[in-house]
Amino acid sequence: MNHIESLEGLRAEALSAIAGAADLKQLEAARVKYLGRKSSLLQVLRELGQLEPDKRAVVGKLANDVKRDVSEALESREGGLAAAAREATLKSDAFDLTLPGETVRTGRVHPLNQTAEEIVQIFRSMGFEVADGPEIEDEYHNFEALNMPAFHPARDMQDTFFIGSNLLLRTHTSNVQIRAMKSRKPPLAVLAPGKVYRRDSDITHSPMFHQIEGFMVDERITFGHLKSVLSSFVRAIFGKTRKVRFRPSYFPFVEPGAEMDVECVMCDGQGCRVCKSSGWLEILGAGMIHPKVLEHVGYDSEKYTGFAFGMGIERIAMLRHRISDIRLFFENDVRFLEQF
Ligand code: DAH
Repeated sequence: MNHIESLEGLRAEALSAIAGAADLKQLEAARVKYLGRKSSLLQVLRELGQLEPDKRAVVGKLANDVKRDVSEALESREGGLAAAAREATLKSDAFDLTLPGETVRTGRVHPLNQTAEEIVQIFRSMGFEVADGPEIEDEYHNFEALNMPAFHPARDMQDTFFIGSNLLLRTHTSNVQIRAMKSRKPPLAVLAPGKVYRRDSDITHSPMFHQIEGFMVDERITFGHLKSVLSSFVRAIFGKTRKVRFRPSYFPFVEPGAEMDVECVMCDGQGCRVCKSSGWLEILGAGMIHPKVLEHVGYDSEKYTGFAFGMGIERIAMLRHRISDIRLFFENDVRFLEQF
């Protein structure tokens, strides 16, 4: 009787402890207490052998029932607590899936590179190929071979950065004319984009800027070819209806020399502040390659003729995008660069 009562009491106590367990930790404590090796239930089961056979059957059955009831209660409470715990973390860790994501800032091709690439593409489509030349150059290739001997007054047209007595930072990409023509034979049509340097700095001049040089040499190349190639270029980059004009000009390495103007892209030729009311913008220098230049590179100037031109990439980019200060290209302010 004693056993029966205490088992019933044990069952009631265990079930209420299990029901009252607030979390998995308390539940585990209840498991140890009521089903553990030191629990009174196990104690009873261990001592069954000492009871008289008929009592043993009754107490044994009850003990096993209690054990099963407690186990089942533990199991189901554990399931409930685990679900509640999962629910709670889901709530506390919750994030709003409808919030907009962080925008990733992507890089862009620099507007000067975009412009240079565009210019190169246009001339490539007319059969020009691209060549490269050194930025650190000697006087011979930058000046002398281009028909500007020492003390020639035209050397003053470009304020040069000298590095020692014979070396300098090239003042224009025209040095590539000499290097490319020396290493090859006509016919050739070459385009040479690159950096050039002059001691000059204000809103339209930068001590480092970019030029594209172009030249074509073959038998019977005329000023007509020059006009046709450069007019096609302007139509491709500034629009089909954009007018151009050629004015006589002087560059030591060409004869005759010219400057090409394009109808002002700001006012369509009406006259404005940018074109100084003229309706025209100067965009490049050009001319027929001087016979003395051809002779410097070992070409027979009786047999071959050619034309050459050079333009500033910054200037073209400024006109295309209506940018008024050249320094914007080099400050690398992302707010400026992101617009292209
Ligand atoms: N090298 C000249 C300059 O930097 C530009 C130029 C003018 C290049 C006439 C040419 C040319 O090839 O024919 O101002």
